[in-house]
Amino acid sequence: MTTILVTGAAGFIGYHLCEKLIKEGYNVVGLDNINDYYDVNLKMARLNELGIQTVYESSSAVSEKHGDQFHFYKMNLEDQTQLPLLFKKYSFDAVCNLAAQAGVRYSIENPMVYVESNIVGFMNLLECMRHNKVKKLVYASSSSVYGNSNEVPFSELDNVDAPVSLYAASKKSNELMANTYSHLYGMETIGLRFFTVYGPWGRPDMAMFLFTDAIINNQPIKIFNEGLLSRDFTFIDDIIEGVTATLLKESKTKSNYEIFNIGNGQPVKLLDFIEAIESQLNTTAQKQMLPMQAGDVYQTWANVEKLEAHYQYKPNTSIEKGVAAFIEWYRKYYKLD
Ligand SMILES: NC(=O)c1ccc[n+]([C@@H]2O[C@H](COP(=O)([O-])OP(=O)(O)OC[C@H]3O[C@@H](n4cnc5c(N)ncnc54)[C@H](O)[C@@H]3O)[C@@H](O)[C@H]2O)c1
Repeated sequence: MTTILVTGAAGFIGYHLCEKLIKEGYNVVGLDNINDYYDVNLKMARLNELGIQTVYESSSAVSEKHGDQFHFYKMNLEDQTQLPLLFKKYSFDAVCNLAAQAGVRYSIENPMVYVESNIVGFMNLLECMRHNKVKKLVYASSSSVYGNSNEVPFSELDNVDAPVSLYAASKKSNELMANTYSHLYGMETIGLRFFTVYGPWGRPDMAMFLFTDAIINNQPIKIFNEGLLSRDFTFIDDIIEGVTATLLKESKTKSNYEIFNIGNGQPVKLLDFIEAIESQLNTTAQKQMLPMQAGDVYQTWANVEKLEAHYQYKPNTSIEKGVAAFIEWYRKYYKLD
């Protein structure tokens, strides 16, 4: 049976990926340092859903729900003592790296965290894979590598040499490091450029969560660049379909180094997104219009033809359906009904 390491397992995307892989019968080892960049209770609640009630520093917790099919480790990706031991303990068939310091705006004030987690941590992972002959890595890159490109939709063939935040620079660095390891050691690496992921168990620092939270609590929502922004919002289930396809299926490509956009392929204006939330909550938001923020980009829009051609990727969740699913989860999680 295949054993897969999922890093960032207590995070938004990592949690959903673990759920899916366990359901499909894979053995999963989850790793996360459970940092306090956002509410740790939410991270623990996700782990509880996976059957992990208590976590231990650098040693294994076994799922009460899934038994040996899911083990969890609280560990830093950049830990050069513990991570190699983890790779010795398990014989991983593949790794999906979702652990990272996320967030564009936070990287303006806290650049060093991005170097530690996203660059030193990623390098440590590549080294462990190399020394233990793990053949396949799927890792999170980001739409932010496209910076403020005016050419839309964004294609994998575009030049991405002008990141506008250190977060974006760290993701672009990961793509370069993966390229080198594919070249030197024949490791198959697949970088996925995620486009604004949203849905149940989502991140409290992202628009969907921030807006819903503010509206429900009668607080004004902060709208940057006077609302003249658009994002290719992508529902979590569509993302997980794409991630599992790249992780588990054979690719049609002969190259062992690939990059794919993974988005919805349909940009939504920020004000329309807010309208979808207002309509679901049956209320009007108090809107605080603010100038553009440093590090932010004006628009994102994924060309997903490459992922479709290689893995039959077809996102199919409308913004209305996705927003409704998030709000249903939010109400249940915060016991509002
Ligand atoms: N959610 C999005 O819209 C989006 C968009 C583009 C890229 N991404 C990327 O996708 C990946 C997953 O994103 P997410 O939304 O689930 O974020 P998340 O913050 O919810 O999950 C990341 C997890 O990684 C853990 N982590 C951070 N640094 C770590 C370290 N040094 N060692 C071990 N664990 C560490 C955190 O505790 C967190 O639980 C990230 O790499 C992120 O940059 C996400």
